[in-house]
Amino acid sequence: VAFIVIDKLARLRNRFRAWNYDTRAAVELSRLGLRYVPWPAYSMRPAAVAAMVNEVLINARRDIVEFGCGVSTLYMAKALSMAGDGGHIVTFEDNADWGAIVEGQLRAEGLESFVTIVHAPLGACRHAKDGLQWYDEAIVAAKLADLRPDLVVVDGPQAGSPGFGMARYPALPMVWPRLAPKCLVALDDIVRPGEKRIVEAWKALPGFDLDVIESHAGYAQCWRGERFAADL
Ligand SMILES: C[S@@+](CC[C@H](N)C(=O)[O-])C[C@H]1O[C@@H](n2cnc3c(N)ncnc32)[C@H](O)[C@@H]1O
Repeated sequence: VAFIVIDKLARLRNRFRAWNYDTRAAVELSRLGLRYVPWPAYSMRPAAVAAMVNEVLINARRDIVEFGCGVSTLYMAKALSMAGDGGHIVTFEDNADWGAIVEGQLRAEGLESFVTIVHAPLGACRHAKDGLQWYDEAIVAAKLADLRPDLVVVDGPQAGSPGFGMARYPALPMVWPRLAPKCLVALDDIVRPGEKRIVEAWKALPGFDLDVIESHAGYAQCWRGERFAADL
């Protein structure tokens, strides 16, 4: 019984900590001066979005690849515009209607030149696990061939339903040959068992040389090269 109570208290403490980080992050993000940003429940937590903004501003990430566009895209684009020395986000999105909404938000903020939203419907992928689909492999591979990403944000495809835990696994095998020498791969939703399995499977890939830690902002940080801490 004592063990169960201690475990429950530890979980409660972690939840309060998360609320605290997210509240602070939401306040800091509001200083970026975007008009109201529609923030659906699907989106990354404010603390994780702020960490990505900080990666742009502190660790000078400029070549960003993202899987699953949304709030994160808007704020990273704003960070690139603030940095003022170029940079671009290529974000792969399977839901064309959602992509159009995000495109509209980017235009409303005058940030569209920082982002290319690539519509990539879900389909077969040779790296996929558990018979799951991933973004159209040919579309992603053709686009990645021109890129050398120093920040990869893995927040799609949707993976919250039972049986979809490994849905985001292909991201790393796909970007691996293209990663910049100094880079960060952020896998969101690392609190879920599926994403934890993904990280273990990534670590087992031949030649895997990224350091990995779980951020208190709810994403896995997988990085190579020197960097300053970017979490709030
Ligand atoms: C976890 S969300 C990614 C969102 C993005 N990285 C962000 O932080 O806002 C993954 C996918 O869910 C879908 N999605 C996001 N918001 C949605 C909404 N409000 N309704 C339906 N689908 C949504 C999109 O296809 C998106 O790529």
